[in-house]
Amino acid sequence: MYSTLQRLNHISSLATTYVMILLGFISIASFLSLPSVDVGNVEVKDLIIQKGRLRRWGARQEELASLKFDIRTDLNPLLNSYNTKQLFVYLTASYEEQSTGNSHEVVLWDRIIERADLKDIRAVGNKVPKTKSGRKGRGNVRVEEVKNKYQWRNPSGTFKDIEYANMTLHYSLMPYVGVLSSGVAATANGPVTIPPLIKR
Ligand SMILES: *[C@@H]1O[C@H](CO)[C@@H](O)[C@H](O)[C@H]1NC(C)=O
Repeated sequence: MYSTLQRLNHISSLATTYVMILLGFISIASFLSLPSVDVGNVEVKDLIIQKGRLRRWGARQEELASLKFDIRTDLNPLLNSYNTKQLFVYLTASYEEQSTGNSHEVVLWDRIIERADLKDIRAVGNKVPKTKSGRKGRGNVRVEEVKNKYQWRNPSGTFKDIEYANMTLHYSLMPYVGVLSSGVAATANGPVTIPPLIKR
């Protein structure tokens, strides 16, 4: 009593089920075989606290932190995995307010690394210099003297209650198939001291 349409529907849903099962296996396999990363190094330079305004209309003056940093890490194991579509790397500062115990995590810089551009990721200052072609298949991240891309403010408007911050470069791996996974790509050698406000 089945109509042709119902039959077709049944076949196509079966096919979809098989494909889903296959994709499921791929995602489990790549999840289990997720390559490990040697945690690289973040070096913070010229961290200063100054009065300033956020780049938005009507923003009030408050304390803003700005910094320069170097990053060195090797993400080749992640980029060479067959199921890696792209990597998203981002630098965060996490810190605690002494008096309230509130903790915060802010993103200071980020970058997308496509599988297609499997070469060294370099950035000096705000420019990304051209890399020589023929050096493909490398995913060494070398970032030098880069400024924070996003402004760093504290919700209370001041940093005087903050002693130090932990700097961490995180990665999120976006696979072709399966779930997003994430981890730590680089850290600073211990907490970074927050300096006092520079008065002008
Ligand atoms: C900073 O890192 C230290 C050592 O890993 C940890 O004990 C501390 O809880 C971290 N602090 C914050 C605010 O993330």
